[in-house]
Amino acid sequence: MCGIVGYVGPQPALDVVVDGLGRLEYRGYDSAGVAVFADGGLTTQKRAGKLGNLRSVLPTQRTADGTAGIGHTRWATHGAPTDRNAHPHVDNDNRVAVVHNGIIENFARLRLELEELGCKFRSETDTEVAAHLLSIQLQHNGGDLAAALRCVCQRLEGTFTLVASSVDDPGLVVAARRNSPLVVGRGEGENFLASDVAAFIAHTRSAVELGQDQVVELRSDSIRVTDYEGNPAPVREYHVDWDASAAEKDGYDYFMLKEIVEQPRAVADTLLGRLGVDGTLSLDEMRLSAADLRDIHKIVIIAAGTSYHAGLIAKYAIEHWCRIPCEVEVASEFRYRDPILDAQTLVIAISQSGESLDTMMALRHAREQRSKVLAICNVNGSSIPREADAVVYTHAGPEVGVAATKTFLTQLVACYLVGMYLAQVRGLKFGDEVQAIIDQLANMPDAVTRVLDTIEPVRQLARSLETAHCVLFLGRHVGYPVALEGALKLKELAYMHAEAFAAGELKHGPIALIEEGLPVVVVVPSREGRGVLHDKLVSNIQEIRARGARTIVIAEEGDETVRPYADELIEIPAVPTLLQPVVATVPLQVFACELALAKGNDVDQPRNLAKSVTVE
Ligand code: F6R
Repeated sequence: MCGIVGYVGPQPALDVVVDGLGRLEYRGYDSAGVAVFADGGLTTQKRAGKLGNLRSVLPTQRTADGTAGIGHTRWATHGAPTDRNAHPHVDNDNRVAVVHNGIIENFARLRLELEELGCKFRSETDTEVAAHLLSIQLQHNGGDLAAALRCVCQRLEGTFTLVASSVDDPGLVVAARRNSPLVVGRGEGENFLASDVAAFIAHTRSAVELGQDQVVELRSDSIRVTDYEGNPAPVREYHVDWDASAAEKDGYDYFMLKEIVEQPRAVADTLLGRLGVDGTLSLDEMRLSAADLRDIHKIVIIAAGTSYHAGLIAKYAIEHWCRIPCEVEVASEFRYRDPILDAQTLVIAISQSGESLDTMMALRHAREQRSKVLAICNVNGSSIPREADAVVYTHAGPEVGVAATKTFLTQLVACYLVGMYLAQVRGLKFGDEVQAIIDQLANMPDAVTRVLDTIEPVRQLARSLETAHCVLFLGRHVGYPVALEGALKLKELAYMHAEAFAAGELKHGPIALIEEGLPVVVVVPSREGRGVLHDKLVSNIQEIRARGARTIVIAEEGDETVRPYADELIEIPAVPTLLQPVVATVPLQVFACELALAKGNDVDQPRNLAKSVTVE
């Protein structure tokens, strides 16, 4: 949430910062702003709305090519998304500029205190207190901006990444982080910082990970990291292997369209090197020992949104393969209900961004109770894998569209890998069913490609439903979380009422919603095994059709039993039941995306949302 960029070096800072913001806009698009230091002064520009609004005022307002600058794209928390509340915020003397991601929880108290000291506030944001505090502190610290920031951080409660610059030292940008993301890019004679490496991979692939409660001083030729007391702090340097072009649209109108098409590659990359030819699995970053994993008597999966849906699917696989009880909970609820955890509980935190604060706080709670935490994450160096005991990375590459697509499919793959790895380590069911699944997993990229190759009718169907007011989704077993995911995608992209039910629950209430012409998407289980669930769902389809529903049925190829009851039939490749979500989700993503486009919505940046939710 909120994107932050900082730059010091020989290039025109304004261009570097605005370009970086363009790559971070998915993090928040309520407003955008920049502050550039040049000619001994500070030039600040900010505008409500998308980055385009800021860009449109820049050429005429631009006075000089400064070589240090900071910028921000905002997802509003305190104060409406107006020009005034946009970042950067400056002190009353216009000497210090600050951008911020997070929430300063004690800002009201600090604001009163600062007003009593004579500070004039120009916005309703929590961030502005940091600008005034920093300005006052600078006077006490003899102009040492980093020392001043360290003092300010000690007064702030809540979560924050703060980035600041001062006219007194225009070759310096300082930043601090607590529970909010911040990464440094090390260049040649220039340095960068940002909420996410996407902002600077066009310039450098060399990144420096900042730890909790650390302050960084960035000059063109140096990067100095300290803790809040000023002691040098250890940092981890790493190479970013994401391809810069992966963060470009490559001719697609929207990132989301491109990311849907990238799914076979993302799934293949996530499997790469993990499925051994001899049928064994290797998970290199699995820092938990076999003994630790054999000791586990319960698994709890915590996640939010789409990642939570991946967790729901993982539960079916893990319990079936490993016979370990597995609970799944939305991360935001987890720590507030005093969950029962111990050293033999494995907590799996699923987060594509690795920054969702709800998931992070749940993770910390689990670790306080001595549970081991395994992260499943897409972003190397992000906070959640850093605080976890072990990590399994998904290799989806950068996902810029706010709605999760390719990262969801790769989370499913990672969950299957973890489930099978646990089964392998614990010697359960291995050698028969799990072995067959390993073979099938290797075919999943092809299966997803086949879904994408035959997707055009789904697009046409979606366009025909542009004026529908509501769509229901039904599924059973792993098809139920798929239905939940289909409904979530439709809500967030098309702003339509969409709801998902476990099909067996229909007669317990929701069937009353069925009326003439209501579109109902049904995810039909595979016919694998005895196909009991399959047959039950076919009965459910008949029940709703008899009551007037327009049935949109997703079923495996060659399933003739559903054809008579399907107003629209979407065929997907036949795969084992537990793997079916990987193929069944794809038509639902395309359906939601196309319907949203038909309504004229921006599918990359849906209203009110942000990619990385770093506030609770
Ligand atoms: C929906 C979506 C969100 C995220 C959720 C968790 O398309 O993207 O629901 O899944 O905010 O985000 P991560 O996985 O980054 O923790």
